[in-house]
Amino acid sequence: MTEMTVAASDATNAAYGMALEDIDVSNPVLFRDNTWHPYFKRLREEDPVHYCKSSMFGPYWSVTKYRDIMAVETNPKVFSSEAKSGGITIMDDNAAASLPMFIAMDPPKHDVQRKTVSPIVAPENLATMESVIRQRTADLLDGLPINEEFDWVHRVSIDLTTKMLATLFDFPWDDRAKLTRWSDVTTALPGGGIIDSEEQRMAELMECATYFTELWNQRVNAEPKNDLISMMAHSESTRHMAPEEYLGNVVLLIVGGNDTTRNSMTGGVLALNEFPDEYRKLSANPALISSMVSEIIRWQTPLSHMRRTALEDIEFGGKHIRQGDKVVMWYVSGNRDPEAIDNPDTFIIDRAKPRQHLSFGFGIHRCVGNRLAELQLNILWEEILKRWPDPLQIQVLQEPTRVLSPFVKGYESLPVRINA
Ligand code: HEM
Repeated sequence: MTEMTVAASDATNAAYGMALEDIDVSNPVLFRDNTWHPYFKRLREEDPVHYCKSSMFGPYWSVTKYRDIMAVETNPKVFSSEAKSGGITIMDDNAAASLPMFIAMDPPKHDVQRKTVSPIVAPENLATMESVIRQRTADLLDGLPINEEFDWVHRVSIDLTTKMLATLFDFPWDDRAKLTRWSDVTTALPGGGIIDSEEQRMAELMECATYFTELWNQRVNAEPKNDLISMMAHSESTRHMAPEEYLGNVVLLIVGGNDTTRNSMTGGVLALNEFPDEYRKLSANPALISSMVSEIIRWQTPLSHMRRTALEDIEFGGKHIRQGDKVVMWYVSGNRDPEAIDNPDTFIIDRAKPRQHLSFGFGIHRCVGNRLAELQLNILWEEILKRWPDPLQIQVLQEPTRVLSPFVKGYESLPVRINA
């Protein structure tokens, strides 16, 4: 038995050996060690709407089945996203979570602000961006080392997503690494290697606020353009935002488009190495790229959960949820629910309904950038296949280092070698 299967069977024994009420799926270690599967499987089978009375994030409900997650998502009147009720992640101690941003607002304000930034991903804008993204991706792949170990996360995923963000904001090019830093600072757990404290988080986000305020001031007095800052500065619904709300929305747009796409870029390489027959299918039929991209996003589930807060008492899934309770929708579990997805623990690049997954959420908050994320991933794989069509030419050399977080599900590093 390999080391990995021993760890997996240990996790299964642990998950099925403990009292149901003691299961705490918010423990970040489960995600860093990639041992979350059996805990969620047991909850789906035995207690799909589960109460955890004590965790490092306080008490919370877990919703683990696909159809129940959809029911929460489509009932924003009861299940609120508002920052002042508690926001959209389980981590309410995160100082960034108290910033007003439209992902953490309920209608009607949410709807108006969402509408302001949506044109950035309108089909005609995506068509314009496509050639820029393709050229950058091609240049980056052409510059990668061959027959030599390197880290896919830093050389490819971070580089490409940082450049994409700089384009969306029309951000000063040479300073673009700041965007990645601010994204990491926003979502990190203190002590996890990125920040040491909430004070440090807020201090760095204040630098972000100062930088973006200067860009706002330049653009509010200039002709409207097609970047996110100019769009917000010139729209009636956002031009009078308080500085704190501007920062909140900037942070949302930085984080939204960054870690998620980055970790899908890495997750795809890993999945194809774990399922080499799928790589063979892809090499034989590159038309499968777009359905594979959706499968990568399901398989990776770059955000493990979104959280809501109950605004009133409600009977849900046979349980009594009380006003003020924290309700966590575990996308990572819904995406592995066999009642919704056939053979969910297998990575299959030619599924009949590849976009049927929960990674982008559902309902009024469904990801604004989903088509842009898919476009970037499609282009990446088209350009990869042009250069390295043979299975396992991009070879994973070691298990990745995973992020310690119950929210961002991703990678710190993935050592690979391109074999030519
Ligand atoms: C919302 C996932 C890429 C911008 C969301 C939500 C999820 C998500 C789960 C919340 C949905 C809900 O609560 O129902 C992802 C994933 C991505 C991705 C998995 C990549 C694979 C992007 C990109 C952008 C973006 C590229 C930037 C343009 C946003 C924004 C929201 C959002 C602004 C808030 C929408 C709202 O509250 O109405 N995303 N996202 N995302 N995402 Fe993404």
